[in-house]
Amino acid sequence: MKNIPVVMIIFGGSGDLAHRKLYPALFNLYEQGLIHDNFAVIGTARRPWSHEYLRGQVSDAIHETHTEVDENDVKDFTSHFYYQSHDVTNVEHYVTLKELAQELDDRYSAQGNRLFYMAMAPRFFGTIATHIDDQHLTGSGFNRIVVEKPFGRDLKSAEELNKQITASFSENEIFRIDHYLGKEMIQNILPMRFTNPLIKNIWNKGNLKNIQVTFAERLGVEARGEYYETSGALRDMVQNHIFQIITLLAMPEPENISSEAIHKAKQELLESLIIPNAEQVKKDFVRGQYAGSDTTFAYKKEPKVNPNSLTETYVAGKVKFERGPIADVPIYFRTGKKFKEKKNRIDIVLKHINTPYGQAYSNNITIEIDPKSRIFITINGKKISEEGIRRENLDYTFSKSELAEVPDGYECLLHDVFVNDSTNFTHWSELKRYWMFIDAIEDAWQKENEAGNPDIVQYAPYRMGPTESNHIFESPTEHWIYE
Ligand code: BG6
Repeated sequence: MKNIPVVMIIFGGSGDLAHRKLYPALFNLYEQGLIHDNFAVIGTARRPWSHEYLRGQVSDAIHETHTEVDENDVKDFTSHFYYQSHDVTNVEHYVTLKELAQELDDRYSAQGNRLFYMAMAPRFFGTIATHIDDQHLTGSGFNRIVVEKPFGRDLKSAEELNKQITASFSENEIFRIDHYLGKEMIQNILPMRFTNPLIKNIWNKGNLKNIQVTFAERLGVEARGEYYETSGALRDMVQNHIFQIITLLAMPEPENISSEAIHKAKQELLESLIIPNAEQVKKDFVRGQYAGSDTTFAYKKEPKVNPNSLTETYVAGKVKFERGPIADVPIYFRTGKKFKEKKNRIDIVLKHINTPYGQAYSNNITIEIDPKSRIFITINGKKISEEGIRRENLDYTFSKSELAEVPDGYECLLHDVFVNDSTNFTHWSELKRYWMFIDAIEDAWQKENEAGNPDIVQYAPYRMGPTESNHIFESPTEHWIYE
């Protein structure tokens, strides 16, 4: 693997994301030789850490995520880390940062390449982008920036942030990260759709009854009440992860598998995304909040949550496109906190057919993303030694050893940033459409809230979310496959 020279600057170097995800992922890329001798990482944050302290933290992060490591490798890897105490609003601090980056560039022969990573509270993204620009932090080689979610909180703020970032970076240098696009089973959707005649040929309105995307979590908001109050399930999960998955499920076949062709096909689809009006929002969307029980707090009682909060911890809804291979097929989604279990899955439901055997089951194709990586297709066959039809699963499950080979989503995506492959990142044209859809729902909800009749249901924790979501289906013969 090619050794890529670079100076990487992580804004939010003392944070949870850097510790849990970025440092272990970078270490794996170092072990593979993608970054090796010619790289330096500057971690920045407000805390007054030293280089040594950061190196200790990076070493801890590696030991917490790896069972066996070569201590010499850890030592060499962490020696490439530098810490710069940094107040993102202080212009002078960018001058110091720029000098340090240049010094490290010389020391490690990084060829003027810079990689910026925004891994801190999103309210600072715009400020950082502005100062990268006005203090000319970009290098003389390649320049790339990775931006964590959320990218704005509505279309207007996303446009503003995009303007700030595009002052220094062009669209192909901006990597808007969505960690779901780094998941193995999500990356499997397009190959599965377009390499199997069995699947490709039925992927149309004539054969598909609906598609159902469920992203369920057992955890509540935990310590993230403050952030979550500004977000809610719709912005936290639907605007990004769920919409990207829906796009992969509904997009037309790309001309080839280059990043350009894939984004082009996505864009083509998204131009035909149907934006719901207030009436449709009322009918096709359900918002909910988890209630409490003997053993667990209600959302409203979580730390840093407004006791009268109208923030949704659950949302279910319907998406449709006017064009594309499954134009007009309803795509239902639901996501929520405090479900009975962690489960991310996609159910593709085929229409029933008339059979000479009488009533048979329809086929469903299920893609399970978490906790297992698995695809299974329900299939009908003859009952053994008796009349009638039975249903079995055709199963494509990852073995234990295959699972062990699957890299973490962040490792995969960071790798892509280093090799300049933006296939699995969100393009501005996609993000824009997603926000248009989300804004329509948020506006309708806001109006209900202001009129004093918010339609938000409370749901029992550790079950399947509010039963009201059973009413969003277009026909009485439809229901959630995963129950
Ligand atoms: C994040 C959300 O983007 O995704 C969290 O902010 C959520 O609220 C998380 O818990 C779920 O990700 P995963 O990979 O654990 O399914």
